[in-house]
Amino acid sequence: MFDDIALLPPDPILGLLGRFRADPRDGKIDLGIGVYQDERGRTPVMRAVQGAEQRLLATQTTKTYQGIAGDPEYNERLLGMLLGDAHPALRDGRVVGVQTTGGCGALRIGAEVIRRARPDARVWVSTPTWANHMPLIGGSGLQILEYPYYDPATHGVDFDAMMSALAKVPAGDVVLLHGCCHNPTGADLTLEQWKDLTALAVRTGFTPYIDTAYQGLADGVDEDVAGMRHMMSEVPECVLAASCSKNFGIYRERAGGVYFLTRNRSRAEAVLSNAMASARQIWSMPPAHGAAIVALILGDAALKADWLQELAEVRARISGMRALLARSLEANAAGLDFSFVTRQKGMFSFLGITPAQVTRLREEFGVYMLDSTRINVAGITPRNIGPLASALHAVLAGDGA
Ligand code: LMR
Repeated sequence: MFDDIALLPPDPILGLLGRFRADPRDGKIDLGIGVYQDERGRTPVMRAVQGAEQRLLATQTTKTYQGIAGDPEYNERLLGMLLGDAHPALRDGRVVGVQTTGGCGALRIGAEVIRRARPDARVWVSTPTWANHMPLIGGSGLQILEYPYYDPATHGVDFDAMMSALAKVPAGDVVLLHGCCHNPTGADLTLEQWKDLTALAVRTGFTPYIDTAYQGLADGVDEDVAGMRHMMSEVPECVLAASCSKNFGIYRERAGGVYFLTRNRSRAEAVLSNAMASARQIWSMPPAHGAAIVALILGDAALKADWLQELAEVRARISGMRALLARSLEANAAGLDFSFVTRQKGMFSFLGITPAQVTRLREEFGVYMLDSTRINVAGITPRNIGPLASALHAVLAGDGA
């Protein structure tokens, strides 16, 4: 059976995590996987999550199956967080969806439903995009194409190039967008740009497919998704894949959801039946624990206030580290300006150094980042910034080795 099966290369993100964990050096620095670390380098369980878990333990009465679509209260509350409770699409009953195994599950079920609806639809993704977008979406059988997004010269979005490419996308195709905190670049669209893009989608008829995994990690829970909410109030149809891994810090619990904005209630019912059929074929029913935590937090005023407070602390720490990194890299020997790091949003930035410098940072200094030069800014701490800055200065100067 397995004589001819090929050995595959490790996943670019999880493979790097494996190498980091296997590195015996003290003082190694993990700027790889997108997981939040506090100022001591730990990934804490958020206070509100601990509170919700205690309450769950004390009150749960069964471990029987949930339905295929998961917990209806979770879906409703998560949608309220994503779109705002007063969003017109929710009021009109045009949004349906299912609880999923994290954002990956959401992206896959979204792709499966698109393929069921329109097998010849092509999915356009930004250049670059998250390393797992193509395997997850392409794995459903859909064809993937790319549109220009990041401009390495400005370290921002090349919006003109993006718009002219997307203007040629035919009706019926799908355009994958990052709700906020673009992964891997940290370069986000402004609200004005979201509005222009929305007008384009309405005019040309492509279907937006929005992936949102970092809501609340840039400027605020509502602020971060203002563009996406606007888009979903204007376009007739849209797919929204959401993850609770990062903003609730419940990575291993695998809580997410995929939601479909449809033209009317009857289309909503048909789409939901296909999402449920896809989920049944892949995992049958979603895990309950992470979603139960989220539903409790979003449904309880005190837990929610505490969660929002801690999320604000997370945000402040990340933007503090962005400023610290930019300051620490001033006056580098290569004469590069790293102030762009302070303008980018969320966990990630592209440093824009060379592949050889990335390798040298890892091998010589124990500093791990993706080969694309993506760094997880939340991996920087007041303790490791000194050695990190020295290592970066050394590789930028090209000395040693
Ligand atoms: C990342 O981009 O590092 C995270 O979303 C983790 C993952 O699954 O790749």
